[in-house]
Amino acid sequence: MKEKIALLNAEILSFLPKNQEHLEQFRIQFLGKKGKIQDLFADFKNVAPEFRKEIGVLLNDLKNNTQQKLDEFKDSFLSSTEERKASDLSMSADFLELGARHPLSVMRNEIISIFSRIGFVVSEGPEIEDDWHNFSALNFPPEHPARDMQDTFFIEKSLETGDIALRTHTSSVQVRMMENSKPPIRAIFPGRVFRNEAISARAHCIFHQVEGLYIDKNVSFADLKQTLLYFAKEMFGESTRIRLRPSYFPFTEPSAEMDISCSICGGKGCNICKHTGWVEILGCGMVDPNVLDNCGIDSNLYTGFAFGMGIERITMLRYGIKDLRLFFENDVRFLKQFEGAI
Ligand code: DAH
Repeated sequence: MKEKIALLNAEILSFLPKNQEHLEQFRIQFLGKKGKIQDLFADFKNVAPEFRKEIGVLLNDLKNNTQQKLDEFKDSFLSSTEERKASDLSMSADFLELGARHPLSVMRNEIISIFSRIGFVVSEGPEIEDDWHNFSALNFPPEHPARDMQDTFFIEKSLETGDIALRTHTSSVQVRMMENSKPPIRAIFPGRVFRNEAISARAHCIFHQVEGLYIDKNVSFADLKQTLLYFAKEMFGESTRIRLRPSYFPFTEPSAEMDISCSICGGKGCNICKHTGWVEILGCGMVDPNVLDNCGIDSNLYTGFAFGMGIERITMLRYGIKDLRLFFENDVRFLKQFEGAI
């Protein structure tokens, strides 16, 4: 028996498969149900009891080593076919699923492109912001509701060092810009903002804004209006009209909200514009002189305008999307619809 095992071992050791079929024959011949190793196992019952332990070990080793050899050859055949695949230029390519840009990125890029054509540069600021940049420098009074826990995600509340919060708007970046550069300033600030809101079809606790700022000598409300009219026409089409309604923001004086003629019904009245023909898209105004002074810009010499818009809102109007939650679900069926958009 020992001799038979040794002979078989030698035969297996010297075996070199030429191809996959050859290897398969080897498997059947040695490891198959009626193979040579199985035959030896069948003979095992004839081995004298005192040799059984020793022969049993030899037999098991033989079987395991043969299986290992088979596996190794299998692996080497597999990887060499893959290598061949990679170098065979005539082989048809596997279909690669391409991703698409997220609609919010598409719109952010378009907003950046529209403003960069009239000389606005892009700048960004931190999402975790201190009280000064998010509120105080922007002229928010101490008791303003946005400073309340109900509306803002605070990270740290401290009377000594000042509060730290997730920024509630990108207006914080205009403060940083004015503190760090001298007029003329012409910039937009895209970014993510956070508010303690219940999630619904119209609101989310995370969303995106683009803030705009223009500071120079003799900047007037007429400049603001013309800049925003240009933006509305570029974004929603040449026939778009705008209207400015008086409003209030702590950091601008005077302040306004801007509506565009409804891009869905063209102003005739529909569900989206609640049958008024107009939809609100942004807040704006002339930068309050207090804010200029807070940021180290002489308000006797310079004036400026600012505006802020929600990217989700613009995207919903451009593509007729009715539920804001879709932007955050990342359902491929939704995202695929924006394939090819830049
Ligand atoms: N920060 C305001 C908001 O989040 C939007 C805004 C309004 C920005 C008027 C401005 C502005 O720069 O002038 O609702």
